[in-house]
Amino acid sequence: MAAKQIKIVPSILSADLRALSREVKAAQDAGADMIHCDVMDGHFVPNITFGPLVVEAVKKSVSIPVDVHLMISDPRRYAKSFCDAGADVLVFHAEAVDGLNSVKTLLDEIRSYGVRPGVAVNPDKPIELFMDALPAIDQVLIMTVYAGSAGQKLIVDVLDKIRAVRQAAIHRGLDIDIEVDGGINGETAALCTAAGANVLVAGSYIFCSNDYAERINTIRKSTNLSQASVP
Ligand code: DX5
Ligand code: ZN
Repeated sequence: MAAKQIKIVPSILSADLRALSREVKAAQDAGADMIHCDVMDGHFVPNITFGPLVVEAVKKSVSIPVDVHLMISDPRRYAKSFCDAGADVLVFHAEAVDGLNSVKTLLDEIRSYGVRPGVAVNPDKPIELFMDALPAIDQVLIMTVYAGSAGQKLIVDVLDKIRAVRQAAIHRGLDIDIEVDGGINGETAALCTAAGANVLVAGSYIFCSNDYAERINTIRKSTNLSQASVP
């Protein structure tokens, strides 16, 4: 089995938003594979960040894909707006919708807009919320911290969920990206890729440094030897 491409994905939550366009371009030039946009509504999580207009600004600034992470209570209501704004991947939380059928319906809707659909779960939520929809999912986001803010420490227990999703994907012959988000740095990234993750979101580790390329290269090198074999 071949290794899956590792994607390193800076989150703009920790970028200098006074210079958003310059920041995301710098991340792209430093070797980022996608740009991660954290959308918070003050309801699903306490913080409020931004909406589709900022996603659109990011999209216009870079040529790499834009990965949008919806931490909002009503993702069905806003999915189309974020797809129209230029999301290339749109991830919603399984626990924010009402059961597996709603998960499937929203996945299908996002795909119908030509956008790659993804599903996230917080550390205390089970993967069973979406596992029966796995064939309809392009990207699974296993939160490695509780959604809501940057700069938290990775919760090691969630690595078991990454392994379980990767094993299930291999077993079913599905080519799925597994994303991790929260507390990712030059040390924790390798734990996640060894467990089967291949999309690594990093906010403060990249944007709170003076040398984005050095941070991205450190993550990339650390994951080179640790990646689980995946289809
Ligand atoms: C947390 C967000 C993350 C956040 C990660 O709710 O989903 O994307 O930006 O920040 P770090 O990498 O600093 O833990
Ligand atoms: Zn995120």
